[in-house]
Amino acid sequence: MNIAVLSYSFTGNNEALAESVTKKLSGEHIRITTLKPFKMSTLIMDMIFARVPKVQPFPYILQKYDLVLFFGPIWMGQVASPLRAYLNYLKQNPMPYGFLSISGGADGGNHKLSDELLQRTGKHPQLLVDQHIALLFPSNHQVTRKETSFYRINETDIKILTNLAIERINKIL
Ligand SMILES: Cc1cc2nc3c(=O)[nH]c(=O)nc-3n(C[C@H](O)[C@H](O)[C@H](O)COP(=O)(O)O)c2cc1C
Repeated sequence: MNIAVLSYSFTGNNEALAESVTKKLSGEHIRITTLKPFKMSTLIMDMIFARVPKVQPFPYILQKYDLVLFFGPIWMGQVASPLRAYLNYLKQNPMPYGFLSISGGADGGNHKLSDELLQRTGKHPQLLVDQHIALLFPSNHQVTRKETSFYRINETDIKILTNLAIERINKIL
């Protein structure tokens, strides 16, 4: 099976996880970049005005794969805007996909994620993994948004999160 691991990362967490997961799969890791420089102000405007930024590689790259696994952050309860062009492409060109994210989780789960993926692609993902940085803190610690936003996953976190992701991915292969 030809697997594409497509990742976007603003601060490195999802890219590090995607890279580690790809090493355990016989897949290809493709990093998404935006054509224009992406700043915090761009991020916020994209999310408020539902913009779809121009990205590389072009989404039609997906046509040569049997399964695509998206990795990217959740911003303001939604999929990060640089992933939108690819999700929209799937609506016209359906193919099996999974969505995996390491997000903050300080306010609990991202409950609208499943509906958003369905709306954008026209199909539910075969796999949806919404992993939270908040769970990496001791359970007796009340995690704040500030703490999760600044957290960069370390080698130990990556190992734990990779094993959890691989366990879930293997169920759909
Ligand atoms: C503007 C902004 C909004 C965010 N909104 C959410 C959110 O709604 N839910 C969530 O779980 N995490 C949220 N986060 C936290 C990120 O998803 C988290 O830091 C993620 O690991 C960043 O991934 P990256 O390093 O791959 O860019 C937000 C972060 C930023 C900067």
